[in-house]
Amino acid sequence: MSPHRLVPESLALLTEGYAWLPDLLRAENDTALNLRVLGKPALAVRGPEAVRFFYDEQHVRRHGALPGPVLSTLFGHGAVHTLDGDAHRSRKAFFLPLLEDDAVTGAAEHIVAAWDEAVPRWAARPQVVLFDAVARVITTGVCRWAGVPLAEGDEEQLARDLSAMVDGFATAGPRHFRARRARTRQEKRFAGLIEAVRSGVVEAPPGSVLDRVCRHRDTSGDTSGDMSGETAGDSAAGDVLAPRVAAVELLNVIRPTVALSWFVAFAAHALHRRPENRERLASGLRSGDTAFATAFAHEVRRFYPFAPFLGGQAVTDLTWQGRTVPAGGLVLLDVYGQNHDERLYKDPYAFRPGRFLDHPPARDELIPQGGADARTGHRCPGEAMTVGILETLAQRLAALEYRVPPQDLTIPLNRIPTRPRSGMLIQVRTP
Ligand code: HEM
Repeated sequence: MSPHRLVPESLALLTEGYAWLPDLLRAENDTALNLRVLGKPALAVRGPEAVRFFYDEQHVRRHGALPGPVLSTLFGHGAVHTLDGDAHRSRKAFFLPLLEDDAVTGAAEHIVAAWDEAVPRWAARPQVVLFDAVARVITTGVCRWAGVPLAEGDEEQLARDLSAMVDGFATAGPRHFRARRARTRQEKRFAGLIEAVRSGVVEAPPGSVLDRVCRHRDTSGDTSGDMSGETAGDSAAGDVLAPRVAAVELLNVIRPTVALSWFVAFAAHALHRRPENRERLASGLRSGDTAFATAFAHEVRRFYPFAPFLGGQAVTDLTWQGRTVPAGGLVLLDVYGQNHDERLYKDPYAFRPGRFLDHPPARDELIPQGGADARTGHRCPGEAMTVGILETLAQRLAALEYRVPPQDLTIPLNRIPTRPRSGMLIQVRTP
């Protein structure tokens, strides 16, 4: 028996963070494991076949599976993440245009413009915390792209709140309460904006994300965002979304885009530790060749810890590789462990972008943003946008003249989500 079994698993999760499931699976030398989480029987799985098992709607459903504290901070009550079947497909339709090239390039262009505006300000200061500075850049850029109006100075508070929502979802401490306050504040603000657009007081650019969320109609299921998390609500299918649910989903575009500041801080960490990648990225920017930058972005997403695992509820009694979980039990997909599984990646703890030059990532192997098909399942609809923005900003970072002063660059694996402790301090030189 693994020594981990001697402590309750939920407590082990809090103390061990990202290492929790991978350690348990390694102790069993296996790709599946039975355990108990939050008092419930659970089955942890890993590997491309397990991804297909996990994303089969006949096996795992999301409704009722996400703990209330995660909804009150990270996703919002009534969010697409909590829906299944037709209700999910109908809500997901709002997010699918994000997969298209014009959305990716549109968002990236606005974010690059905001980056270019920010660089002289960074150079004028003795040093900047890259994580915070990039969160503001992305907030400015993504809001311009999405059609969300921002008054002068608003981006600072919004960037702080969006980062707080991500930072506080997996802890019971002060970070959690900061995240709840941030979500309450921004849901109220965004719901007000949606009502203002619908009543004609504010104009949303036609076809923008703001315009689309105001007009989106779920063709099936509950549109009220019932706070109990149950599907029976008071809005009929075919109605526009209740303002608070529309706010939740608008935030589900803006918030995760700003969360890219975690990956940009990790990219800076990787450039510091592996400076040989810098010239290759910068020369790609000069020549317009993005192949290496794309591989670099995939390696950042694979190597650095972000989502530890994903969870859902067994629809029926399930058996996977001889292990069972009863209906209503939890099924966990070991995201961090799979991205570091040596059966899939040679030397998984080495940072090597080149691995993705010869072999672009297979759909169900590289799963930092979920697996299977984003069009039909819960996989992240912002994945192409994440890769597109990250490769663009990684190139610009590599081309920027800066020094990395002494600081604490450790990345604690028992903190979810984690990042370099210092937030990546840089001293930018005047271009
Ligand atoms: C830091 C970069 C990002 C990471 C690490 C990330 C990660 C994830 C993960 C792990 C999921 C859950 C997949 C599942 O439940 O099966 C998810 C879902 C989602 N992501 Fe992302 N994401 C990122 C960026 C984005 C962006 C840029 C957007 C939008 C522009 C976005 C929008 C969403 C939405 C709406 C869902 C819910 C999809 C559904 O339930 O059908 N994400 N993301």
